[in-house]
Amino acid sequence: MAFGNQLVQAHIALRERLESLRDGLVDGAEVADLRSHCLSFCAAVQRHHVAEDDGVFPVLAREHPELRSVLDELGRDHRIVSDALRALGESVDADPVAFRREVDSVAALLETHFTYEERKIADVLSALTGRLDAADAALITRATTV
Ligand SMILES: [Fe+2]
Ligand SMILES: [Fe+2]
Repeated sequence: MAFGNQLVQAHIALRERLESLRDGLVDGAEVADLRSHCLSFCAAVQRHHVAEDDGVFPVLAREHPELRSVLDELGRDHRIVSDALRALGESVDADPVAFRREVDSVAALLETHFTYEERKIADVLSALTGRLDAADAALITRATTV
């Protein structure tokens, strides 16, 4: 699969996990279940973003220096999302209204970030498919396996 498509698929998988967290809220899932879904969702997003920061973005910055300011912006988004995920994790034991508010906030931030990231780097990533050495290709695949 082209690298850009792998990125889009990873974002779709993360959106689905967030959706199932939201469904748990609607269905009145046990707090313990919500907590474990929440933790595993947050860990998956963090893994994806750290692997982008440490793998995908450095490869892109080297191959496409003109993208560096965009990559800095995307990295800043990651830190904002990380703060929102921390607030989400802290709210899971609070009242359901607070938790739902944090879920909505994370969903809005992620949607904006995923859309912007796909618009800016998916095509460029796809064009690198088959042109990177094995180590760099593995970095892209690690970031897009969620
Ligand atoms: Fe990202
Ligand atoms: Fe991403």
